[in-house]
Amino acid sequence: MIVTEAELSRWGERLGATLATPCFLALRGPLGAGKSVLARAVGRGAGLVEPMPSPTFNLCFRYDTPRGVELIHMDLYRLSDPDELWELGWEDLGAPDQLVLVEWPERAGPLLPADRWDVSLHVPEPGSTVRRVEVERVGAPPPLPGFPVTLTTGGEA
Ligand SMILES: Nc1ncnc2c1ncn2[C@@H]1O[C@H](COP(=O)(O)OP(=O)(O)OP(=O)(O)O)[C@@H](O)[C@H]1O
Ligand SMILES: [Mg+2]
Repeated sequence: MIVTEAELSRWGERLGATLATPCFLALRGPLGAGKSVLARAVGRGAGLVEPMPSPTFNLCFRYDTPRGVELIHMDLYRLSDPDELWELGWEDLGAPDQLVLVEWPERAGPLLPADRWDVSLHVPEPGSTVRRVEVERVGAPPPLPGFPVTLTTGGEA
């Protein structure tokens, strides 16, 4: 699926509003692919109004959302060794009310959970304003709403 930023955001909002938990989303793709754009949309969909800063240095931010799910947003770009994950509380992830979004999941190596969605964002050419989205189910995660996301009340997302 090829999507604009507005379409990707609309999908993320749908995920944040409706995804069953626990759910783990591995957000793959190069620098600037739109992983954080998608993560923030998921947060908005779950009712968050506070900003979601990039977890570039903290690696992990947790949010209690109005929807009642705990949103966990991680960026493992600066993780030098998967073993550092234990310091971030990795072993406690996957609680029944958690929605976990992880950028640069490849840094976690074999420690990624067996049940998850792998969402890959591809930039077709430098400077492009569209992204190709690939979604792959790994194991048995809860169902994921797909594209296209239809507008409910009209207007841009
Ligand atoms: N179709 C699109 N979908 C998502 N982002 C887009 C799209 N077109 C342009 N952009 C722009 O691309 C950038 C994506 O930045 P973002 O921070 O989400 O990337 P990232 O994948 O999180 O990168 P990093 O690995 O550095 O964390 C934003 O500036 C956004 O406005
Ligand atoms: Mg990012």
